[in-house]
Amino acid sequence: MSEKIKLSAIEKVKIESDALRGTIRQSLQDEITGAIREDDQAVIKFHGMYQQDDRDRREERAVKKLDRLYTFMIRLRLPGGLITPDQWIAAHHVAGENSTGVIKITTRQTIQLHGLIKAKIKPTIKAFNEAHLDSIATCGDINRNVSCSSNPAESPLHDKVFAYANKISMLLMPKTKAYYEIWLDEEQLVDKKAEEDPLYKDRYMPRKFKIGIAIPPNNDVDVFTNDIGLIAVIENNELKGFNFAIGGGLSTTHGNADTYARLGTVIGFVDTEEKVLKAVYEILTVQRDFGNRSDRKLARLKYTLDRLGVDQYRKEVEKRTGFEFEPARPVKFITRGDLYGWRINDRGRWQYTVFVENGRVVDDEKCALKTALLEIAKTKRTNFHFTSNQNIIISDVAEKDKVAINKILIRFGVIEHTDGASVIRKNSIACVALPTCPLALAEGQRYMPALLSKVEPLLQKHGLENEHIVMRMTGCPNGCARPYAAEIGLVGTAPGKYNLHLGGDHTGERLNKLYKENLEESQILSELDEWFASFTKERNGDESFGEYSWKKQIALEGLKFIKNNI
Ligand code: HEM
Ligand code: SF4
Repeated sequence: MSEKIKLSAIEKVKIESDALRGTIRQSLQDEITGAIREDDQAVIKFHGMYQQDDRDRREERAVKKLDRLYTFMIRLRLPGGLITPDQWIAAHHVAGENSTGVIKITTRQTIQLHGLIKAKIKPTIKAFNEAHLDSIATCGDINRNVSCSSNPAESPLHDKVFAYANKISMLLMPKTKAYYEIWLDEEQLVDKKAEEDPLYKDRYMPRKFKIGIAIPPNNDVDVFTNDIGLIAVIENNELKGFNFAIGGGLSTTHGNADTYARLGTVIGFVDTEEKVLKAVYEILTVQRDFGNRSDRKLARLKYTLDRLGVDQYRKEVEKRTGFEFEPARPVKFITRGDLYGWRINDRGRWQYTVFVENGRVVDDEKCALKTALLEIAKTKRTNFHFTSNQNIIISDVAEKDKVAINKILIRFGVIEHTDGASVIRKNSIACVALPTCPLALAEGQRYMPALLSKVEPLLQKHGLENEHIVMRMTGCPNGCARPYAAEIGLVGTAPGKYNLHLGGDHTGERLNKLYKENLEESQILSELDEWFASFTKERNGDESFGEYSWKKQIALEGLKFIKNNI
């Protein structure tokens, strides 16, 4: 990149951060405020944290002339979303002792805790470390948690593909020892050469970087929304390699026409493990070297790709890897949803997928999910997989243990809760939004359940209650719950107002369209009522709602075009 380009403020913070140390130690010692210094707020993201504050209490505290109620969110690095029973037990206790107590399963297959006060960060990271868990690089301008199709029952090759998530995560870890020094009190490095980082250098990536791995026919990870999407190519029950899709990314900014959501473009196929890892690495180096470092809104790989052109980007990667991508192999996605309830895999092991509304693991009067999962973990007879739909799979259950696990699930109301949830609810996700997310313009997970309770009767009214419709909501256009890849997407614009997007496909291979802007609840419901009515009357065979609403919008646009041009 030309030296003349004015670097964004965050670029300077990264370069001057002394390999991600910043002044975090001093910030932690400062007892006058619950916050940390401004530059350190950017640096701690690389250690897996966001500084936040309780937005519900801002006004009340401002009146009392009190500092905002600062707390921290911490997110774990769990490639492919796998956690052992011991690690779940540790997370359960850490959540109870140091955070709000809620364990939040995220849309990228990891967990995060909210509400940690500054003094609790170190004990939290230490406790996680004892359980062999860390939060390195789960936020910030760096490769983040690598997601991978989470359904172990789907393919006998799941383990083989899943191993890539870990290998890629390790390959792309930063070399700095800052995390260990600051949070785990390890000795300070004297020889700084030991942490020289040929990948990230001192600038890291221009922006966040996300990698997802899908195992067709299930696109549960929404593979095309990642900077790099790897699609496993399985032929004759053998893993042949991966198709590479690059340039996915959903965030947009209201009112900034230069920003857009984009699905990844397939650039080819790569076979051996060595070549796959090399290709992944060099896709990052090209983005590192060519990505926009002056305007963060245009810094994701998708913009670099569209600026350079797909061919040019691919050629640059090929120059660096020393081999060419082969033509992409045929693959087919059929679904994106989780497979709830009990299923058995090819090795005779059982798994139970629990519906976790918006990924919030808590106990309530009907379902004591948090307690149930703790009890199950204590049996040490299962593993846990998080899914990109914010659910949890209790996996690897032997036939002889199934009855005992099932009893726990029944005792705490988990089976009733999972079986009892409507189809649309089970296909919906919402982001965190208020009160913690500083970027939220409207509610997300706190509002989605109530809205769904009003959408469900509409579906029943039109006989559509068994229709698999993917509905997603976010509190702002950043799109953390992937609303632009949903059949019905709601994107917050202001308190109580949402843009309504319609027409994503069933498999995450097409973005939806913005249909109407700034709708209040009553307007959302009356629009959906009309759409469900016409869908019931006009749908073609068993065409999905996404397919129908896509075609209808195109037809409506055509009519508008003709009218405007007569
Ligand atoms: C400019 C773009 C984005 C920004 C600035 C941003 C920022 C944030 C922030 C501040 C949070 C923390 C919210 C909280 O816990 O209170 C968050 C959560 C999260 N974001 Fe984003 N985000 C962006 C785009 C995305 C996109 C496009 C995805 C995935 C497609 C994503 C995935 C997530 C996930 C998985 C979480 C965890 C919570 C959840 O599952 O809802 N983010 N993001
Ligand atoms: S979509 Fe917006 S409101 Fe929701 S968590 Fe992401 S940044 Fe926050």
